[in-house]
Amino acid sequence: MRLVKLDAIDSTNDFLKDLTRQQMAENFTVVTAENQTKGKGQMGAVWNSEVGKNLIMSVLIKDFILDSKDVFNLNIVVSLAVIKSLESLNIPKLSIKWPNDIMSDHKKIGGILIENSFKSDNSIDSIVGIGLNVNQIHFENLPQASSLALQTNTVFDKDVLLHLIVDNLKSTLKSWNTAAVSLKENYTNRLFNKGVLMPFQKPDQSIFMGMISGVTATGQLEMLSDQGLPLDFDVKEVKMIF
Ligand code: BTN
Repeated sequence: MRLVKLDAIDSTNDFLKDLTRQQMAENFTVVTAENQTKGKGQMGAVWNSEVGKNLIMSVLIKDFILDSKDVFNLNIVVSLAVIKSLESLNIPKLSIKWPNDIMSDHKKIGGILIENSFKSDNSIDSIVGIGLNVNQIHFENLPQASSLALQTNTVFDKDVLLHLIVDNLKSTLKSWNTAAVSLKENYTNRLFNKGVLMPFQKPDQSIFMGMISGVTATGQLEMLSDQGLPLDFDVKEVKMIF
């Protein structure tokens, strides 16, 4: 694995994307940074992280997604690889808040941002960005944020975590062809608040009660309304209120 360690950069995802445009970057090229000046979160959000405290990494995954209808499969693989890594460090009550927030108990400890480039030869390069709150202990105005250190009262070695995640990512990707069904099942079983009746918000701000039951093959959230009606939502169509 090629590892590029940076002190500061706008975004490790953008840096790795540029790198893949400029040169033949090998599969599993990893970029880390101690500080991001324009860290990107899901759906145009900003990803902030205290300098030097957390794991900020992007990994290049080539040729796993072969068709655009399968993009969600990589979300499943990455979420499960991160969960497995954190589980081996005894982080408590781990779950995945759909589509890929990493939770410990009711707190968000990490997030994943996957950006896919469709190339002229029809292959797909995926930039997998992972932000994990590791040793940061103050989160201003973010009551739902936490870190590994806060959840366990322990200081963690970010390099150990980085290698754990990359190893688990490689092994989970390798197992996909033979274990896709059980990996999808593991992902569904790990969903935060699955089976719990709770409020959700639509883009028009209206609130409704629903219960998460799973995800569709393309990654939409499957729910049951409080009337027992099956509903599917895309990531932009619904927000969990908890
Ligand atoms: C989210 O939960 O909204 C996703 C957060 C993803 C953050 C990581 S940090 C490393 C990589 N570089 C970025 O700019 N974003 C991702």
